[in-house]
Amino acid sequence: MCGIVGYVGTNPVLDILLDGLEQLEYRGYDSSGIAVKCDEEIKVYKAVGKLKNLRDELSSHAYEISKSTMGIGHIRWATHGAPTTVNAHPHTCNCGSLVVVHNGIIENYKELKAKLEKDGCIFRSQTDTETVAHLVAQKYAQTKDLTKAVELATKEIEGAYALEIMHNDEPEKLVITKRNAPLIIGIGHDGYYAASDIPAFIKHTNKAIYLSDNQIATLTKDSVKIQDVDGNEVKPKIEQLPWEPVALSKMGYKHYMLKEIHEQPDVIRNILVGKLHTSDSPVELNEVKLTKETLKTLNRIQVIACGTSLHAAMIGKYLIEDLCGIPVDVEASSEYIYRKTVTNAHTLVIGVSQSGETADTLTAIKQSKAKGSHILIITNRPDSAMAREADSLLSVNAGIEVSVAATKSYIAQLTSFYLLALYMAEIKGSASDETIKNLKSEMLLLPQKIEQILANKDYIQTCARKYSGTRDFIYIARGVNYPTALEGALKLKEISYINATGYPAGELKHGPIAMLDETMPVLSVLMKGSVYEKLLSNSEEAKARNARMIALTNSTDKKLDDLFDYIIRVPEVDEMLSPIIAIVPLQLIAYYIAEFLGKDVDQPRNLAKSVTVE
Ligand code: AGP
Repeated sequence: MCGIVGYVGTNPVLDILLDGLEQLEYRGYDSSGIAVKCDEEIKVYKAVGKLKNLRDELSSHAYEISKSTMGIGHIRWATHGAPTTVNAHPHTCNCGSLVVVHNGIIENYKELKAKLEKDGCIFRSQTDTETVAHLVAQKYAQTKDLTKAVELATKEIEGAYALEIMHNDEPEKLVITKRNAPLIIGIGHDGYYAASDIPAFIKHTNKAIYLSDNQIATLTKDSVKIQDVDGNEVKPKIEQLPWEPVALSKMGYKHYMLKEIHEQPDVIRNILVGKLHTSDSPVELNEVKLTKETLKTLNRIQVIACGTSLHAAMIGKYLIEDLCGIPVDVEASSEYIYRKTVTNAHTLVIGVSQSGETADTLTAIKQSKAKGSHILIITNRPDSAMAREADSLLSVNAGIEVSVAATKSYIAQLTSFYLLALYMAEIKGSASDETIKNLKSEMLLLPQKIEQILANKDYIQTCARKYSGTRDFIYIARGVNYPTALEGALKLKEISYINATGYPAGELKHGPIAMLDETMPVLSVLMKGSVYEKLLSNSEEAKARNARMIALTNSTDKKLDDLFDYIIRVPEVDEMLSPIIAIVPLQLIAYYIAEFLGKDVDQPRNLAKSVTVE
């Protein structure tokens, strides 16, 4: 989604802004722009499409901007108004003295716009953001103080925002503020940075201040002042970021997605270190702050998440119910927040999010926190807004995930759910010692098994290419792998734009079977265990309708040879752990089809890495 970066200091700002925006590109965007303070005026440059277009636009102005040491930049993911140059940020007030970049949505922009138009403001774009430019400029005309103007304006603004604002009459001031959207200040030797995400400035500094909601920061080249919305000074808390100042790199892989798929064995290893030593030692999850007594008596869990994280949550339900006997409800955050949910102090609420910034999940978490529930967050970003709401924080430490399509963060979320379910089962005594020991010893072997699958990727690539001409794709599975089918289909949809759907195989005959004919590929996630035979029968039913059959299986059963056109074999694994093994070939199939079709694998159309609007 949108990304913002700003700088005020002693170094030339142009490269800082463009490099910063480049580091945020992975979040997904459709236009970009910058505003820089040049001698007597603020200059604004914008372009539609990739950052390269903005660089091209800037090439003929490089000299006039080269000395500037203060500016703001933005990559936009269109919400209000099409991705055009006019709608791209920064936006300006009538006379162009004030510029603003914005992440989020101004919910009352229509009301504000109507008032501002009556006052003579002329709107040029269709964006909600332009209201902020006019509103702050109006307040500035009254106060002649940019910080005060922002303070007054934010009292009238409803919605979510991270804002960076400059005014020509305050040539050395960058004023920033936020509500329900991330904004971080980087403290450099040469000045101050402000960005919606750390990669934008980590190359320059790893010292940072996380701005809280409704705080306003005034940055100059050698000072930072933070105040609350009523003007009271707030003492900044400076934090050391747990980040390496290295640029994002594909490490020789063609795409980040392929690199991230290959990182999965190490991601699991990293999570298990310190938490699961041997199959005989108990799972250590000091991060769970609920007392053992509370865990023993816990009678309800709600898990809320979106997209891929929702699929991890669905598998989490299966594990917790099976091993701990606690009822678990899983719900898409966007549904959870708009109904009367029965949540209270006796409910454990688990929020799952790679980014920790997804607006729907964040709102859902805040709602359940207000009702007194204990909040456990599973996230890849311990520095995120969701992490800050957590009573218990399970940081999955998968490392930054650049590809918009989530892969390694999913495996990391799953691994965390296994540990959590085992941890609770050990405390409750709700599963047999033998079951727990077997699962633990198999978990320790998962990284090697995934490496075996990756070693077989050429075969998966050949299979994927066979199906790259299809318009539709069906994934079927049962039991704990039903969410695997959903996730496999989501991956394919996201990056290849093929209409892929996952079904619980038993549902096929209740409708979807009508779509089957000799053009339809049906991939069966056929893992050995309680539903193997049932799924085999469902696959027979699909075969009988002439579908093009593919099996993803850990069975060596000879009868599969007649039933399936392609068989992708994966190593043997306990049924309960099989989702971690089964997802890897499905990620590869999606990747190879999209790559073969020449799609923009890492930044698929219309998608954003972190969806910070509801
Ligand atoms: C995954 O491939 C998608 N990009 C998307 O479904 C994502 O999982 C969803 O937007 C939730 O994001 P989160 O995990 O950061 O909350």
